[in-house]
Amino acid sequence: MKKIYKTLIYVAVIGVIALTVACGGGNSGDGDSPTTEMKGNAPQLTVPENHNGGNAWGNDKCYLCHNIKKLKDIHDYSPKLADSFSKVDETDIGACLYCHGTNGLTGITSETYQCMKCHEDANIVSSHDMFGGKNMHDFNGDGKIGNSDCIVCHEWSDMDGKIDINVDFRKSGSDYVTTNDLCLSCHDGNGAFGIMPPVLKFDTEVTNIYSTFLGIGSTAAEMKSTADIHGARIGQGQSFGVFRGTYANDMELTCLSCHQVHSSDNPYLITESGKTAVNADDTAKNAKVSVTENNFSELCAVCHMNPNGADTANGLKEVVHTSTYSSNCTDCHYHGAGHGTSVNGLF
Ligand code: HEC
Ligand code: HEC
Ligand code: HEC
Ligand code: HEC
Ligand code: HEC
Ligand code: HEC
Ligand code: HEC
Ligand code: HEC
Repeated sequence: MKKIYKTLIYVAVIGVIALTVACGGGNSGDGDSPTTEMKGNAPQLTVPENHNGGNAWGNDKCYLCHNIKKLKDIHDYSPKLADSFSKVDETDIGACLYCHGTNGLTGITSETYQCMKCHEDANIVSSHDMFGGKNMHDFNGDGKIGNSDCIVCHEWSDMDGKIDINVDFRKSGSDYVTTNDLCLSCHDGNGAFGIMPPVLKFDTEVTNIYSTFLGIGSTAAEMKSTADIHGARIGQGQSFGVFRGTYANDMELTCLSCHQVHSSDNPYLITESGKTAVNADDTAKNAKVSVTENNFSELCAVCHMNPNGADTANGLKEVVHTSTYSSNCTDCHYHGAGHGTSVNGLF
């Protein structure tokens, strides 16, 4: 499995380079090709004579001719990015090549792009602590989330300090509406970008989250009625709990209200904090979330509660079941528990 991922990543990287070359040809940043548009119209270094009459072609000493002060002016669309250029060494030109193409240099891979150099450094970005969790999206199986994993999802980021769903993520087809579309483009039983997620651990009838979240069947109505209640299906209403904040029935939740995308110390990339549940109340948003074995009480309590319930370890209120149920919540609650014979409508 790991070997296959590696090969696919390699092919993907070559694909990126080929695409950059193909789209940038004869184009000096006038923004008429999709590639350049997606990186905020960054001019692509693809034609030797267009780069200082050919004198700068194949040259990797970018800072020799482009001084920092000018680079800051040019990139003032993203002041933090422009600042970051003076916080790395003069040989660290990975970011330049990620946005501007190869400049005729050979052997460029995702490792050349040095994402982690800046993104793990608290002096450069505020979001530096997203990558240290025990579990992660580690596509190449090297035990960490690193450069080659980043570009699978962020092939096109313009690094302007804002996540824009149709700029910062790689697309396989049509525009995304929400980040769920990115997740589900991969977690759909066919994978995406040459990457295939593993089959589900708990559901026996379907193998992927697309089918559990949006349902199975041949008509829209059939799909909706077999989907997860946290997904497309409308719930029957709380039986013994109440919602926190503005959570309500008839909501399709975002994946990232319960999951962290980069890494998490919790299994299944479950969020480590209530703050990802954007519609919860402040008490819940300030709570930490920790999952041990298959006990998800602290997570569920961020959005569901019973005012008379016992305190959870993260200071919230437990949802009290009418009878003594096991703390192995996944006996009954998991993606896919919306249909089938053994359980129904429990997720
Ligand atoms: C030998 C000096 C020199 C080196 C080294 C050099 N450049 Fe340039 N570069 C220039 C000059 C001069 C221009 C502006 C004139 C031109 O476009 O030919 C330029 C233009 C550019 C442009 C704009 C191209 C366009 O089509 O508008 C980009 C982007 C660029 N350089 C990036 C880089 C990067 C990235 C590196 C390192 C990989 C680099 N340069 C290395 C001299 C250099
Ligand atoms: C996140 C993407 C990104 C990164 C990283 C980046 N650039 Fe740029 N660069 C751009 C964009 C977008 C423009 C066009 C800005 C504009 O037109 O206002 C640009 C413009 C330029 C230009 C001017 C081109 C012209 O037409 O005058 C040069 C030179 C340049 N970049 C060099 C560099 C160098 C050297 C680095 C690495 C230190 C670098 N860039 C890193 C996105 C990037
Ligand atoms: C599985 C796809 C995926 C991978 C792999 C991935 N990201 Fe992300 N990244 C996302 C999504 C989705 C978001 C938006 C998160 C949100 O909206 O809360 C994001 C957001 C970000 C942000 C903005 C965070 C913020 O809070 O401002 C940065 C920076 C970032 N990613 C960098 C990286 C780097 C660096 C890597 C590689 C180490 C990487 N990402 C790998 C999907 C991914
Ligand atoms: C030279 C430093 C540097 C390098 C190298 C670098 N980044 Fe960034 N990146 C930044 C800065 C600075 C920001 C803006 C952060 C902010 O405003 O909080 C940023 C923002 C981002 C964002 C957030 C979306 C956005 O539009 O702001 C993503 C995603 C991202 N980078 C991905 C990557 C990936 C993938 C790589 C490697 C291919 C990479 N970065 C390499 C400095 C860098
Ligand atoms: C490029 C394909 C791809 C994209 C896009 C993607 N994933 Fe994944 N995901 C995977 C793969 C492959 C794994 C298995 C772990 C690994 O190898 O990195 C995985 C693992 C997971 C897991 C952990 C499963 C387990 O058994 O522990 C969760 C949860 C998850 N993804 C959620 C998401 C969410 C949420 C998003 C969107 C923000 C997303 N994924 C986007 C491919 C993807
Ligand atoms: C981010 C908030 C959030 C979290 C965390 C959350 N839920 Fe929910 N849950 C909801 C919302 C909102 C609904 C109603 C959705 C609808 O009806 O469309 C719901 C509905 C349900 C239902 C169906 C009730 C009905 O109306 O029929 C069950 C069962 C359930 N959740 C169990 C859980 C369990 C178990 C956990 C923990 C593993 C959990 N939930 C975590 C927000 C959340
Ligand atoms: C033996 C099966 C079973 C187990 C194990 C189980 N539950 Fe439930 N759970 C149910 C049933 C049945 C419902 C009621 C669904 C309904 O009527 O909407 C429910 C409902 C819920 C709800 C939604 C609240 C509501 O008012 O409907 C939450 C939240 C919840 N359970 C959390 C948990 C947590 C946390 C665990 C693990 C500590 C757990 N459950 C273990 C069967 C189970
Ligand atoms: C209400 C909270 C919640 C939401 C919303 C949610 N998840 Fe999950 N997810 C969980 C919990 C709890 C588990 C562990 C139980 C299980 O595996 O079903 C899990 C497990 C997973 C797994 C591992 C499944 C397995 O059985 O191996 C993947 C992959 C995953 N989620 C992806 C997603 C994606 C993609 C989305 C959005 C389309 C999403 N999740 C939305 C709570 C949530």
